[in-house]
Amino acid sequence: MFEIKERDGLARIGEFETEHGTVETPAIMPVVNPNKMTVSPRRMKETFGAQILITNSYVIYQTEELRKKALEEGLHSLLDFDFPIMTDSGTFQAHVYGDVDVDHQEIIGFQKRMDSDVSTILDEFTEPDDEREVAEEKVRKTMERARYAVEEYEDEKGHIALPVQGSVFPELRERAGKEMKRFEGVYPIGGVVPLLENYRFSDLVNIILSSKKGLGAKGPVHLFGAGHPMVYPLAVLLGVDLFDSSSYIKYARRGDLMYPDGTKKLREIEHFGCHCPTCMEHEPAELREMEEGERTELMAEHNLWVCFNEIEKVKQAVKEESVWEMAERRCRSHPHLLSGIKEVYDHWRYLERFEPRSRHGAVLYTGRGTLKRPLIRRFKEWVMEEYEPLFEAPTILFDAEEVNKPYNRSLRDELSRLEEAGANILFSTPLGPVPLELDETYPVPQSVFLDERKGKERKKELERYKEMKDLSEMVRYDDLDTLDEFSGNAGMCLDDMRVKTIADYQFGKGAGELFVQGKTEYVKNRKGRIKNVMLDGKHVLSLRHYDGLFTLKMAGAMILKEELEPPRMRVTVTEDSAEFNSQGKNVFCKFVIDADENIRPGDEVLVVDEYDNLVAAGRAFLNSQEMSDLKRGIAVRIREGRDDWSKKD
Ligand code: GUN
Ligand code: ZN
Repeated sequence: MFEIKERDGLARIGEFETEHGTVETPAIMPVVNPNKMTVSPRRMKETFGAQILITNSYVIYQTEELRKKALEEGLHSLLDFDFPIMTDSGTFQAHVYGDVDVDHQEIIGFQKRMDSDVSTILDEFTEPDDEREVAEEKVRKTMERARYAVEEYEDEKGHIALPVQGSVFPELRERAGKEMKRFEGVYPIGGVVPLLENYRFSDLVNIILSSKKGLGAKGPVHLFGAGHPMVYPLAVLLGVDLFDSSSYIKYARRGDLMYPDGTKKLREIEHFGCHCPTCMEHEPAELREMEEGERTELMAEHNLWVCFNEIEKVKQAVKEESVWEMAERRCRSHPHLLSGIKEVYDHWRYLERFEPRSRHGAVLYTGRGTLKRPLIRRFKEWVMEEYEPLFEAPTILFDAEEVNKPYNRSLRDELSRLEEAGANILFSTPLGPVPLELDETYPVPQSVFLDERKGKERKKELERYKEMKDLSEMVRYDDLDTLDEFSGNAGMCLDDMRVKTIADYQFGKGAGELFVQGKTEYVKNRKGRIKNVMLDGKHVLSLRHYDGLFTLKMAGAMILKEELEPPRMRVTVTEDSAEFNSQGKNVFCKFVIDADENIRPGDEVLVVDEYDNLVAAGRAFLNSQEMSDLKRGIAVRIREGRDDWSKKD
């Protein structure tokens, strides 16, 4: 029912299947009030491109005429909308008015009977200021109702929405998510409206992430009541798939216009700065003089245009793998959003598990936070803690600012002399210390940084590097004479250095060693860059030009499989799947038995059968947790099957 099609870290483009069609996520579900449709459902679909709506079943239930019609003709006929419709349960009314006049069995049953595509249980709204015990009791009650709904309607069509509650307590949210995850459904994150209203974005980030930790990769995840486009990039960055909102109409009623970076009052506007039909066809003054009903409708439409437009931009950002940039930029529009993205960086250890080692686009610095992105921190941490300098020799230090990228090309003269010498060469960069061999590997050349840090910080990093690597000497490069003292050491050619260090970075400690012992040869492009690595006559690795990382050939995969202990780099599949994968067909989630938890999306992996026989080499699309949480979709894209794999091995 939910499948990830494309991704950028936790952000994803998914397909959510319902009885009334498939919804591409992230998606907005405009709220439709069945008593008062300012913008008709048909118009939502045909003009705005809405793929799914949300309405309130409690409102329908309470209105005799609507209730009767809904039960007789069904919800889709009531709203004159043949696409998917989600229904809410009355929880929000209970939050606003203190209580509702229906019990949980009745309202879920009612939604089912009128053929809702996604029926929401009557969850208990946890308030941000609830005491821990109160929140815990509400979570317990919500769970009980979830269990009832799932058991009662297990065999019926239509999804059930199972909200994750838990106020602002991270462990409670995580636990609630973990419990809900056992049931198939849609997973709204509830109880966040008061936080959104008060711009408490750092609490919001905490809540989304702790709920996500519990839910794992399950989806779709819905952020209940988040209707302002300001929060879309941040929420999508954290793995939210669905948004609902009545904000477009509520804001319009009070004279407010939504923009991607905030809200403006109609009475204060002279220029719309928007190209939606409302803004193209009217002047602000004209709108102000209109009769209220007409004005509200036009403003609601502007708000909808802005919302749909923004969600399209976020989707494009997922495709371009630039959601971090987009979220960082948008979060500059309000200090409270900035506090939200700052909170995100504090969770980098968790987020790192979903981060690829490279992206299609460059890392474009948007502010100091960019250095705290999980991809960057992982790279820096690896260089600082895992990287082993190749020679027992002094380290020559260059300042990155004095050399063009890639560094090795601007230092041809120096390098030709150093090749013989066997000195370690290090660059002091905005990304921290970077050894020469990584100068063509993501994100080193594929990043544009403005280094706002003080020289002191960079110096401290170098000190730490020296200490970590136990270096006796670090010599700052001055001119060619600096190199005089390095003659006579036994060196290693830059190509070998690259292969060793990149393979260690990509495949883990000890992997690099495997590809430089024996007779290595390189196939190069016109610029002299490595294309293929040949070991003892066999093509083992190819170096990708766009990110300076390796793709694994079958002969290379064989070497890694033989030398690296399980579960390293492995995705273990069922025998049935192995048969297909050995023929070059992709691995699907449901056939994965186990996977190395160090695998990151985009990593090269070894596909093996249950007896650890190599079946294929491929590129992971998901990490191990995602492979086990998801029932549908591709887990590994196979590059090369092993045609001599057989069950009898
Ligand atoms: N609408 C806004 N917040 C909530 C919530 O927490 N639960 C439900 N069911 N609806 C909501
Ligand atoms: Zn407009």
